[in-house]
Amino acid sequence: MSAVTLRVVGVTAETQDAVSLELVAEPARQVQYRPGQFLTLRIPSAQTGSVARSYSLSSAPHEGRLEVTVKRTAGGYASNWLCDNATPGMTIDSLPPAGIFTPDSLDTDLLLLAAGSGITPMLSILKSALSQGTGRCTLIYANRDENSVIFADALKSLTAEHPDRLVVLHWLESVQNLPSVPTLTTLLTPWHDRELFVCGPAPFMDVVVTAADHLGMDRVHVEKFVSLSGDPFAEIEIEDTDDAALVEVELDGTTNEFGWPRNTVLLDVLLARGVPAPYSCREGACSACVCRVVDGEVKLLRNEILERADLADGYVLACQAVPVTDTVRVTYE
Ligand SMILES: Cc1cc2nc3c(=O)[nH]c(=O)nc-3n(C[C@H](O)[C@H](O)[C@H](O)COP(=O)(O)OP(=O)(O)OC[C@H]3O[C@@H](n4cnc5c(N)ncnc54)[C@H](O)[C@@H]3O)c2cc1C
Ligand code: FES
Repeated sequence: MSAVTLRVVGVTAETQDAVSLELVAEPARQVQYRPGQFLTLRIPSAQTGSVARSYSLSSAPHEGRLEVTVKRTAGGYASNWLCDNATPGMTIDSLPPAGIFTPDSLDTDLLLLAAGSGITPMLSILKSALSQGTGRCTLIYANRDENSVIFADALKSLTAEHPDRLVVLHWLESVQNLPSVPTLTTLLTPWHDRELFVCGPAPFMDVVVTAADHLGMDRVHVEKFVSLSGDPFAEIEIEDTDDAALVEVELDGTTNEFGWPRNTVLLDVLLARGVPAPYSCREGACSACVCRVVDGEVKLLRNEILERADLADGYVLACQAVPVTDTVRVTYE
């Protein structure tokens, strides 16, 4: 799971403050991903060397291409750098696609709620479901005003191509004010039995999740667009120490055993030993590193992502797990 080099081959202005970057791997090869996943890009900075930021793929896997769509954040560094500086020909380092904001099946009926740049993973999911699956989709897309709507034309074309399977409802703050919990509860009622995907600014996601709660919706997926604070591209060094547990790890059909220093997270142990364990943020915020403890006990230093039910099933974040018991068995299968 090392960084890949991507070359920018196209830059498209989507709105006044959002651009799409078409990317290809260098050397040329197909990059596998699932609809709704994201890339983590290394953006150069004279101040800190670089900053790492995640961007959801707006392209769909069956299109055989990679595209991210970046919206300027007022006062933000990386988004403005990309919007101002990305030009065809330049290269950028990325971590492989990651994330679990992706439908288990493209044949399931979906309800998608997006606001602003939260449309990017939704477009990938929509294109995939409509072209590769049989599920029906409803998208409710909130924006400040008509000029802020990203992918307006693409959404129009998809609706025209799939009139029986796709409903797109636009919510404009300039016309309807911000959506409230009671209004959303009424609006979502016809689709309350669907799997729900939500992505947008935190206040938007809060009202959607509360409305979904009122409707008893239990298959709810949320993608938080936050900036990483650490550097997931940094080299890993671990100390040699006698105060170590023993961990047995099953990954890609291979089982290995390592000493696991008690003050070191599992992901660092694996990467330092050359095990290609998956990861992205390395700060407990994205779930790319999820694995399952099948024997023994670990402690998570931070967890922004796993729900109680996941933890009860033994799922843990390798980037945040330190050992509690002397022996631990972990599987990525
Ligand atoms: C899973 C995921 C998917 C996402 N998908 C998308 C997407 O599809 N589209 C999208 O637009 N966004 C997406 N985001 C959000 C994106 O990752 C960023 O959070 C967003 O672009 C804002 O980043 P920013 O650096 O512009 O702003 P901020 O993070 O607000 O920038 C301010 C920060 O930059 C630092 N800074 C300021 N100047 C410098 C400098 N010169 N050098 C170094 N640091 C500096 C400051 O200290 C401050 O911490 C996603 C996030 C996640 C987690
Ligand atoms: S790598 Fe993101 S949660 Fe572990």
